[in-house]
Amino acid sequence: MKVSVTYKIPDAGIEFLKKNYEVWVNTEERNLTKEELKKVASESDAMITLLSDKIDEEVIEAGKGKLKVISNYAVGYNNIDVKAANDNGIVVTNTPDVLTETTADLAWALMMASARRIVEADHFVREGNFVGWKPELLMGQDIFGKTLGVIGLGRIGLAVARRAKGFNMKVLYNKRTPMPKDMESEFGFEYAEVDEILENADFISLNVPLTPETDHMLDKEKLDKIKKNAVLVNTSRGKVIDEAYLAEKLEKKEIAAAGLDVFENEPQVNEKLLKLDNVVVAPHIGSATKETRDKMSMMVAEDIDSVLSGGQAKNVVKSWGGSFILEFKNIDEIKISKIAKALSKKLKTGHVILLYGDLGTGKTTFSKYFIGSRIKTAMVTSPTFAIENIYGENPRIHHIDLYRIQDPYEIEYIDLFADKEDIYIVEWADYLDYLKPEKNIEIYLDYSKEDISKRDLKIKINDDIDIFDAINQEVERWK
Ligand code: NAP
Ligand code: GLV
Ligand code: GLV
Repeated sequence: MKVSVTYKIPDAGIEFLKKNYEVWVNTEERNLTKEELKKVASESDAMITLLSDKIDEEVIEAGKGKLKVISNYAVGYNNIDVKAANDNGIVVTNTPDVLTETTADLAWALMMASARRIVEADHFVREGNFVGWKPELLMGQDIFGKTLGVIGLGRIGLAVARRAKGFNMKVLYNKRTPMPKDMESEFGFEYAEVDEILENADFISLNVPLTPETDHMLDKEKLDKIKKNAVLVNTSRGKVIDEAYLAEKLEKKEIAAAGLDVFENEPQVNEKLLKLDNVVVAPHIGSATKETRDKMSMMVAEDIDSVLSGGQAKNVVKSWGGSFILEFKNIDEIKISKIAKALSKKLKTGHVILLYGDLGTGKTTFSKYFIGSRIKTAMVTSPTFAIENIYGENPRIHHIDLYRIQDPYEIEYIDLFADKEDIYIVEWADYLDYLKPEKNIEIYLDYSKEDISKRDLKIKINDDIDIFDAINQEVERWK
C-alpha cells in the first residue's frame, strides 16, 4: 500500500511508515499544485497533507475508491473538505494535544514581544542606536496584573490562559459552551461574551478554529470595540480577522500592538502590516519546535497505519455543522429520566455520553435510568475506588465518574475510551473538556438551581440525527 506525503516532514513518522508501506515524499520544497494533489490522491491509499494543501471536493473525488485516510500534519483542518471525505468513506485525522503547549508558548512569546517592543528593541541595538540608557526609551506596556481575554478556550486557549496565572492576570474567556461554574472557579477564569472581552481585555488571544462561524469573527465592527491600549495576538488562523482593517487600526494606533503568527492569505502578508513597528510577525510557527514536530510526525504515521491495517485512527476529525442542540428549561427529574431512556434506546457501539454538572439529587439519576433501561437488572452504583463500573454485554456500558479523579490533568494519562465497541457514559465530564472522545453526546445540566424540579438541560448531539429525532419524539409526548 502506498502512503504519499505532500511535503517533507520530520523523519520519525516516515521511517515508521517505511517499514510496512511504500512511501513517497515530495522533496521539492514547494507545495503541490491542485493537479498534483489530485494525481497523488488517485494513486495513494493514504496521504499526509499540510495545512497549506487545499484538499477540496475535487481532490477527494480523485482519491475516491483508493484513498482511505488523509492525515493533516496540523491540528487545524479547515483546509480539508471533511464532509466530502467522510461521504466517500475517507477518514480524516489531525494532530491535537501534542502541539498545545508549544503553540501556547508562541502565543505568549508574541504577546510579550508586542507588549515590550522586543523586535523594535533588537533592531534599535543592531542599528547602532544604543548610545546610552534613557529614561523614556522604548517604553512598552505591563503585562502582569492586566486582563487577558482568550477567545476560543479549547486545548490551546486553556494553555494560554493557564500561563496567565503566573502573571497574576485576570482571565476572561469565550467559547460556545461555557465551562461549568465549579470548573471556572477552579481555574479562576471568567466567562464573557466576545464583545465584553474586546471592550475590556488588555491582551486578547485568538484560539478558535477557522469555521464558517469564525471566518472574520473579528470584522470591522468587532475590531472597533477593542481598547486603544490593547495587544491582539493571533495564533489561530488569519481569516478569523479582517486583516486589512486590523492594519488600518494598528497604523492609526487605535489598537496598540499585535503579534501575528497567521495571516489571511498565507504566505502573503498585508503590506501595511509589514511597515508597522507595533506589529510582531512570525511565519506560522506555532507548533515549530523539534520535539513537537517529531511527535506530530509519529502521530500522523500511527493514525495512517491504524487505518490501513483495518483499525481505527486515534485522532479522527468530523465535519462542522453536524451538531444538534436541544435545550430544556425548568424540567423535573421525571422528564430527565425520560430523556435518558429515549437516548438509551438509540445508542450504538462507540457512543460516548458526556454528562456535565451534577445530574439529579443522587448524582446518578441520569445514568441510572440510562443504564437501567438497557440492562434490566443493573443496579447503578457510583464507582468508588475504580473510576468506572462496567455493565452488560454486547455492547458493554462503562459508567465512569470523573469526580473520583482529584487532579483534572491526570485524565490526560488515562485511556478512558479504549474499547471502541463499547458505550461510555461519563459523569462529571467537566474534567474532560479538553480531551473529547470522537463520537459524543454532550449533556449539560444547570445544577446551580436550588429547586431540582426546575433544572435546565442542554443536549448537544454530534452527528446523529436519529438520536435527535428520538428525543424530540419523547418531548412531543409531554405536550
Ligand atoms: P480546540 O481544542 O478545538 O479549541 C478550539 C476552541 O474554540 C474550543 O474550545 C471551542 O469551544 C472554541 N470555539 C469554536 N468555535 C467557536 C466560536 N464560534 N466562538 C467561540 N469559541 C469557539 O482546538 P485547539 O487544539 O486549541 O486549536 C485551535 C486552533 O488553533 C486550531 O484549529 C488551529 O487553527 C490553530 N492552531 C494554530 C497553530 C499555529 O501554528 N499558529 C498551531 C496549532 C493550532 P466550543 O466548542 O465550546 O465553542
Ligand atoms: C497549525 O496551524 C495547526 O493547526 O496545527
Ligand atoms: C535598570 O536596569 C534598573 O536597575 O532599574
